[in-house]
Amino acid sequence: MRVLVVGGGGREHALLWKLRQSARVTALYCAPGNAGTAALAENVAIAADDVAALRDFARRERIDATVVGPELPLVLGIADDFTAAGLRCFGPCRAAAALEGSKAFAKDVMARAGVPTARHAVFDDAAAASRYVDEVGAPVVVKADGLAAGKGVAVCATRADAQAAIDTSMRRGAFGDAGRRVVIEEFLAGEEVSFMAVTDGDTVVPLASSQDHKRLGDGDTGPNTGGMGAYSPSPLVTPALERAVMEEIVRPVIATLAASGIRYRGVLYAGLMVDAGRAKVLEFNVRFGDPECQVLMLRLRSDLLDLVLAVTDGTLVRHVPQWETRASAGVVLAANGYPNEPVKGDPIAGLDGWQGGVVFHSGTARRGGAVVTNGGRVLTLAALGRDVAAAVANAYTGVERIRFAGMRYRRDIGRRGGAPPR
Ligand code: AMP
Ligand code: GLY
Repeated sequence: MRVLVVGGGGREHALLWKLRQSARVTALYCAPGNAGTAALAENVAIAADDVAALRDFARRERIDATVVGPELPLVLGIADDFTAAGLRCFGPCRAAAALEGSKAFAKDVMARAGVPTARHAVFDDAAAASRYVDEVGAPVVVKADGLAAGKGVAVCATRADAQAAIDTSMRRGAFGDAGRRVVIEEFLAGEEVSFMAVTDGDTVVPLASSQDHKRLGDGDTGPNTGGMGAYSPSPLVTPALERAVMEEIVRPVIATLAASGIRYRGVLYAGLMVDAGRAKVLEFNVRFGDPECQVLMLRLRSDLLDLVLAVTDGTLVRHVPQWETRASAGVVLAANGYPNEPVKGDPIAGLDGWQGGVVFHSGTARRGGAVVTNGGRVLTLAALGRDVAAAVANAYTGVERIRFAGMRYRRDIGRRGGAPPR
């Protein structure tokens, strides 16, 4: 089968790495890809959000299945477009992708589905938003409604911080149209878990659990990022919690969408806050998490193409994904200046020859003979181990080999999973 992966980050590299192991895959393409994906697939110079060009490419190249990594093409309706053209597409349709594309829509679906989540209010008017913050006080969370490249959420310790966040998003338009409407919600305490499930619209199957490290600095300090590392499984996701999340969150959301005529197909990612064994939803994503996907692909034993086709063809009832009992961990190496102004173009040394795990590329490019940095998150060093602590220790043996100017990473990946800091 001829398979196209859309995107160019570590998540897409990990998907390709796993698809390469499938006996049925005869050709692999990645659009646009990075220096790492080029070793596994043919990179195609089409942007991940150029839906029409991707569809034309898939038609012309007789692509049998397309796996969409990032949210933007899904929110733009790539699945609808491909399906209308008779092409298989792994990822939800535009109406379902609004779960990630609009936080107000996600909140509305959660309310209808009775899903536990933070109390909230939605505002199109900055003055009304300001009055609300004065009324409810702090801590409080101010979120741009639309997609804001991971920067639209402000966790505010004081009323003044919240007023500043409203100003930034609604009055100054820092996130463009995505931030003209905001969701203001109750601050939730606890520990975050990434819970992903796949569905073909009928059958819903949980994937292995994982945890991400969102803050830039050790000890969960500094600004929020796309994720500085991950590990799987999460010790917080007990069988009882998994059952509760499936019954109280994942299934009701999929059923509520179905009741309004929206069939969900693909990965549903629930970002959860877990406190005293109870989970509440922070956000939904309509795709694999990044870097969570990297650690999940290391643990997935069964064939990824089989899973993809079970979802696109509606046969998930007959497919049971198999997982490695060992744990996995990934440490992200970020560029100087990440997340605000990452420096690009620095040569990366030490990429070859690591036997202890897998190097997944995110922001990398090939310039002449060299691989150089080309984005905020540059690489993920991912490894297996008998438990999270061992997997983390193995991943750091890879980190020691890599060098580039201004390279930064966290030294406490897996801390909450039982791994000691470096
Ligand atoms: P989101 O994009 O909604 O996941 O928000 C980004 C990050 O902000 C999350 O990963 C949390 O760390 C934090 N966050 C979001 N909503 C809340 C909340 N209601 N209470 C506490 N932290 C939150
Ligand atoms: N690592 C969090 C995300 O992919 O949104």
